[in-house]
Amino acid sequence: MTTSIGIDIGGTKVSGGVLDEEGRILVRTRCDTPDRSSAPRVVEDTIVEVIEELLVLAEEAGAERPSTVGVGAAGFVAADRSTVVFAPHLSWRNEPLRAALSQRVDLPISIDNDANAALWAEHRFGAARGATHAVMITLGTGIGGAIIVGGHLVRGRYGIAGEFGHMQVVPGGQRCECGNRGCWEQYSSGNALVREARGLAMANSPMATDLLAHVGGDPASLTGPMITEAARAGDATATELLAEIGHWLGVGIANLAAALDPEVFVIGGGVSAAGDLLLGPARDTFARQLTGRGYRPAATIVAARFGPDAGLIGAAALGAEEQM
Ligand code: BGC
Ligand code: NA
Ligand code: ZN
Repeated sequence: MTTSIGIDIGGTKVSGGVLDEEGRILVRTRCDTPDRSSAPRVVEDTIVEVIEELLVLAEEAGAERPSTVGVGAAGFVAADRSTVVFAPHLSWRNEPLRAALSQRVDLPISIDNDANAALWAEHRFGAARGATHAVMITLGTGIGGAIIVGGHLVRGRYGIAGEFGHMQVVPGGQRCECGNRGCWEQYSSGNALVREARGLAMANSPMATDLLAHVGGDPASLTGPMITEAARAGDATATELLAEIGHWLGVGIANLAAALDPEVFVIGGGVSAAGDLLLGPARDTFARQLTGRGYRPAATIVAARFGPDAGLIGAAALGAEEQM
């Protein structure tokens, strides 16, 4: 059976896998994304290392040698599907990523935005299967977005459609890594969750006492997964922090419904592991803010079937399809 490599380059993690044609992950690996101040060459080295490691793992597992590489990258991928023109969380500025990787890897390479890749996985094999109009929102370091209309990914005239994370939701709000203020991803992402939790902890709020106990009193050690775990175990503050992220998620989804009118919103990325602790509040806000509510069909809001793996699964599928 033909196999393909999928790589998801996020703001904090690079994950890769070798997949079969049905989107099943045969072998996988994961490492940290080089720091935002690292040169593009360092990120490139990391991607090449991940590909080489996957080739070895596939061979060891007795899988067929992968014939394509698909990359989902956390940035603005130009319509040429070769250049990353800008990436808020990485050092890429007009980076000819496809050419650079093609020089070092002897396999056909294809590039897409990470959230586009995630939606493609959910559309082909997961939560958006059968939907003609679907929108993906990934909550990780930032917010990723993707649109399917009529069964096709909508990439925009210049490749950069679906950058929902940088729509302004709070005039004059938090500074974003893109340079603007008040971007949606400053209020509903993994980074937003951690910033709010650390803020509470550093203010010495008694609300944060239990959360802080998990990290030996050091607010800087609080992470998103810890907050989710604490909320699952019933911690009221962690639950409230996630509800706030969920509320902002619902605000943005109501706006996107006004613009795009899809049948389903698929929520992925690391924070989506919180499940209904996040999606419940998002659905509540959406139901209160959808324009024309009560008179129109409302889209459903569902968790990504592949959770944080959607990006690498979709990247592999897009890469394989491009060679067909
Ligand atoms: C970037 C997107 C990316 C998203 C998720 C955003 O900040 O602008 O290109 O898809 O983060 O990684
Ligand atoms: Na996108
Ligand atoms: Zn922004």
